Amino acid sequence: MDVSDVIARFRQQRVLVVGEAMLDCYYNGHAERISPEGPVPVVNASSKQRYPGGATNAAANVAALGAKVRCLSVVGDDEAGTALREELRVRGIEDDMLTDRDRSTITKLRIVADGHYVVRYDEGERQPLSPGMEQALIERLRVGFAECAAVIVADYCYGILGERVIAEIGRLKEQHNRLVLVDSKNLPLYRGMAASVITPNHLEAQRAAGWTVRDVDRISGEELEELGRHLLSAIGSTWALVTLGPKGSLLFEAGKATYRVTPRPVPNPHVSGAGDTFTSALALSLSAGAPVRTAVEIAAEAAAVVVGKPGTATVTARELLQRLALSGMMSEPGVELEATVERYRAANKRIVFTNGLFDGLTSGNIAFLRAARQLGDVLIVGVNSDRGVTEQRGYGPRVPEDERLALVAALALVDHVVTFDEATPEAIIRRIRPNVHAKGGDYRTEELPEAAAVHEVGGEVVLLPLMDERAQPHTSGKLLRR
Ligand SMILES: Nc1ncnc2c1ncn2[C@@H]1O[C@H](COP(=O)(O)OP(=O)(O)OP(=O)(O)O)[C@@H](O)[C@H]1O
Ligand SMILES: [Mg+2]
Repeated sequence: MDVSDVIARFRQQRVLVVGEAMLDCYYNGHAERISPEGPVPVVNASSKQRYPGGATNAAANVAALGAKVRCLSVVGDDEAGTALREELRVRGIEDDMLTDRDRSTITKLRIVADGHYVVRYDEGERQPLSPGMEQALIERLRVGFAECAAVIVADYCYGILGERVIAEIGRLKEQHNRLVLVDSKNLPLYRGMAASVITPNHLEAQRAAGWTVRDVDRISGEELEELGRHLLSAIGSTWALVTLGPKGSLLFEAGKATYRVTPRPVPNPHVSGAGDTFTSALALSLSAGAPVRTAVEIAAEAAAVVVGKPGTATVTARELLQRLALSGMMSEPGVELEATVERYRAANKRIVFTNGLFDGLTSGNIAFLRAARQLGDVLIVGVNSDRGVTEQRGYGPRVPEDERLALVAALALVDHVVTFDEATPEAIIRRIRPNVHAKGGDYRTEELPEAAAVHEVGGEVVLLPLMDERAQPHTSGKLLRR
């Protein structure tokens, strides 16, 4: 699956965000004198902005990326609560917020003078929910889990996600088999939930591991490795993603090598909310069926777009697509072979495999690929690598590998291309396990070196006659009469 396909599928996803809703306010102005009342600047107001923050920022990110999202939290019966609900409404976020008359809505007010923070003023309730409110939240969680394929838990430790709620999330995850991403300031509370993904930044990761917190520059690569592996087993998630701000992120999975994503540098970054964007894009990419590494790459690009914008910003699917096209990720999505073919198999698709050198694509090649494609639902083409060909015959192909791949991949008939180094495609056939292996030419099945491998994986060999497109040219209905 190409990254553009992943992003196109965002629209079909439905996500539940549960956690701490807050209102982010920015009061901007200009300061040129010190107050006679005390040693503080006097800020002359120019503009005010407010954004959904915390869990509602994660929801705003999911909505901006084009998916359906429901946000479940508790706010107070106050002005900030009303303002926050209005911010959800204008963004098309389903408002599943409970109102608690005994709480006040969490608000973070920043006073900014000439682009510099002067002070942040935090308000709002941080006590645990009352048992009645907790019960009401749990009932809404049950509805949300039934209706949404992915759940983001945005826990800032302001009292909304108590022990009972967390236990219920774990139970519902099991019951409905949902993708659950946990972004929490206090990860050990999620031990034993078997979350799909945890996304701590390195500070949260260090705290969760009981370390004395250090700056990321003072932690060695080996120590980061130890930290990630420790969290993975201590919290018991499928994946652990430790984010490192501008240094990117590290993906840990049991039994697999650590995967590092380094983002492109962003000049004058505005880092507030990068984590929410990262988690939201990761949730949508995984929910859309992307292999985990591709999902992390997409999430990192989404976060990089957002840190390039001031305030608590979001990124749209279109901006993300443009960005990915520029970064070259579109042509090389890093799709994992086994994961891709597994998805086709799960969807009962008939996989056809064929292979060739394609050193200069001919119309005969195209006629052959068209016939091969008709033998099933998905056509995967193995292309001999430059390295393999050079080793086997002493000189390389005329057309370089990347161009040969690009030409074959450009054909609408072809779903995927993959290179292989060996003289025969036996090894790649064992990995793909195609239903059909199509071969052109005057072979007899018994003479084909890879026939045994095809039969071993339960596939059949189909021999197609060598074709000459010139005998029967085919323009696939694209020819315009003039
Ligand atoms: N300055 C930056 N330049 C490029 N990418 C960045 C930058 N800062 C963050 N990112 C991207 O965003 C991801 C998450 O960032 P970070 O580690 O800062 O999360 P966080 O601390 O949880 O953020 P938040 O404050 O939003 O909760 C990083 O892994 C990286 O891919
Ligand atoms: Mg964070």
